[in-house]
Amino acid sequence: MKTERLDVTPRGIDRAAEILSSGGIVAIPTETVYGLAADATDEAALHRVFAAKGRPQDNPLIVHIAEIDTLKVLAREIPSAAFRLAERFWPGPLTMVLKRTDATAKTVSAGLDTVAIRMPDHPVAQAVIRAGVPLAAPSANTSGSPSPTTAHHVLHDLDGKIDGVLMGDECAVGVESTVVDLSSTPPRLLRPGGVSAEELREILPDLVLDKAILVEPEQGAKVASPGMKYKHYAPKTTSFLVEGTSAQFVDYVNQKKNGAALCFSEEAALLTVPHLCYGSAQDESELAHNLFSALREVDGLGAKEIYIHAPEKSGVGLAVYNRLIRAAAFQVIAL
Ligand code: TXA
Ligand code: MG
Repeated sequence: MKTERLDVTPRGIDRAAEILSSGGIVAIPTETVYGLAADATDEAALHRVFAAKGRPQDNPLIVHIAEIDTLKVLAREIPSAAFRLAERFWPGPLTMVLKRTDATAKTVSAGLDTVAIRMPDHPVAQAVIRAGVPLAAPSANTSGSPSPTTAHHVLHDLDGKIDGVLMGDECAVGVESTVVDLSSTPPRLLRPGGVSAEELREILPDLVLDKAILVEPEQGAKVASPGMKYKHYAPKTTSFLVEGTSAQFVDYVNQKKNGAALCFSEEAALLTVPHLCYGSAQDESELAHNLFSALREVDGLGAKEIYIHAPEKSGVGLAVYNRLIRAAAFQVIAL
């Protein structure tokens, strides 16, 4: 299949909408990561999304909307907190899991009684949604590899497997949306993301953090968010997540003959092993923004092992930590 490169012009957006309404699948930029979109009511198109990504069938998709009224079409028994969250954080990097109606295809929810919904804060994503139907869109990467934050990443993984890519800019946030489950009480944070747990607590004081965020789910365990149980974001090189101060990290990694580092920019000048920086220790948004590009590049350092300096687990840092602990297959070194 030839993957059409579409400009982010009214013409390119119309073409994307046309492909989507005829059952095709198109990658679109959002403020978090690129998504691989399909009509959320079209079973055949949704199956093509799972096939192109190599995604396990039991991992449900997020439905992307452009108008708040669509929420009531897709979900039922919506708690008032959902509207307060929407008012505060939409459009933006927040996904709400709610009880589903029959408005979307069953494949979207992978057999669950709930549906995940978000309103992206990106003019191109919004224009494509407005031109047609609600779109189901997982991240536009091969399952298991880092999510794509550039159109180039999308093509690296999916060229020839999807109908088109809207060739937008680099994604601003860089990590995927925060997923919060409001379908039961208390509300539960399933995946940390661009909206922090601290911000959510201002509206959801009883929010609980799902333990799968920071702990490896046991083999065969049932997890609230199916996506959390899969190996994810992993470079090919064996990776370790290292916790400690900059001085400890630099000392430790400099002793590793076959090692390389994914470090904070403050540490670069002190490292004697090959390294890549993903931002300042002081700036968790910068770390989030650069994270997935860096994870795609670390194999190029040519080392046997990669030591990744872990960020603080607060604010957006929790989302970065959550992705890194998966990239490192839960191998954590506490200095
Ligand atoms: O920022 C994002 O959320 C991006 C952009 C494209 O919008 N999308 C994204 O989709 O990250 P994906 O498919 O890569 O991740 C969706 C996550 C998965 O962990 C999945 O298990 C979870 O959301 N999820 C989806 N529907 C769910 C549901 N009904 N209940 C629980 N978890 C759900
Ligand atoms: Mg994904």
